[in-house]
Amino acid sequence: MVWPTVRAVLTVVAMTGIVATDRLSSMERGLQGKVALVTGASRGIGAAIARELADAGAHVALAGRDEATLQETARSMAPGNHALAVKADVADTSDLDRLVGKVVAELGGIDVLVNNAGLMPPARQIYNVDLDEWQTVMNINLRAPWYLSKLVHPHMKARGGGAIVNVSSTSGLHHDIGLGVYGISKAGVVMLTEVCAKEWARDGIRVNGIAPGIVKTQLAGSIIDYLKTRNIKPNPMNMFGEPEDIAKLVRFLASDESRYMTGSIIRIDGGELL
Ligand SMILES: NC(=O)c1ccc[n+]([C@@H]2O[C@H](COP(=O)([O-])OP(=O)(O)OC[C@H]3O[C@@H](n4cnc5c(N)ncnc54)[C@H](OP(=O)(O)O)[C@@H]3O)[C@@H](O)[C@H]2O)c1
Repeated sequence: MVWPTVRAVLTVVAMTGIVATDRLSSMERGLQGKVALVTGASRGIGAAIARELADAGAHVALAGRDEATLQETARSMAPGNHALAVKADVADTSDLDRLVGKVVAELGGIDVLVNNAGLMPPARQIYNVDLDEWQTVMNINLRAPWYLSKLVHPHMKARGGGAIVNVSSTSGLHHDIGLGVYGISKAGVVMLTEVCAKEWARDGIRVNGIAPGIVKTQLAGSIIDYLKTRNIKPNPMNMFGEPEDIAKLVRFLASDESRYMTGSIIRIDGGELL
């Protein structure tokens, strides 16, 4: 049989340290040669997603507003694949046009889009939200995922399909006082996911969403401090998520392992909403 022989060779190679064992298993995960675009990839959840997709064999385009931090994340990714850092503000639709054009020109197309970039404004009651804040949050958290999905649609369709993963939040599924405008934008992401999933299934494009609870990143820093200083449990597991916990789920939804899933919103929250 050929397989045990190949396996034995891979194991020997791994044992010699030429290729790390965890790298082999990542390669087996199946995004080999795919092109992925991740927004908000400079830090936090997006950076972990970019690294996870690269570990699974993808060429990854990283988008964000700060070139230096994007380059830093790109350098932390598995070698051997292309890592393309593109400075882009997702609130600016002309930046998004340029972003998709550049990824297609330099990496040859797009198979996976992860709409991750997001902003959570300081907590305040909804009557204290002004027009500027409403517009900024909606443009970044909701308009950008719609506009980018629309831009990548023809490219994915031309390749026979693709996968889009939208990062919503538990705040998009239930209301936390003070997080109204953020929650409304993330609830919009849930419906955007369902709309695109239903309309684009015929094009072979799967669209799924995730709803993380509290994850240890800059965005959640003040909430984590607030809960810790008051000894408040964030969820039944009394646990904050790591960016890598989220990245593994995104890798699954981006790959053919989830081939029978579209339009799903998966909570990943330590049981927060139970
Ligand atoms: N952390 C949590 O507890 C949690 C829970 C549920 C959902 N989420 C969601 O997860 C996603 C990632 O959040 P995170 O926790 O990783 O936050 P983070 O650490 O603050 O990272 C946010 C990322 O988005 C980018 N970004 C923000 N505004 C942007 C813009 N206008 N254009 C381009 N990039 C922009 C940031 O890069 P630059 O600032 O350099 O541009 C950064 O890379 C967000 O959609 C967030 O709503 C987070």
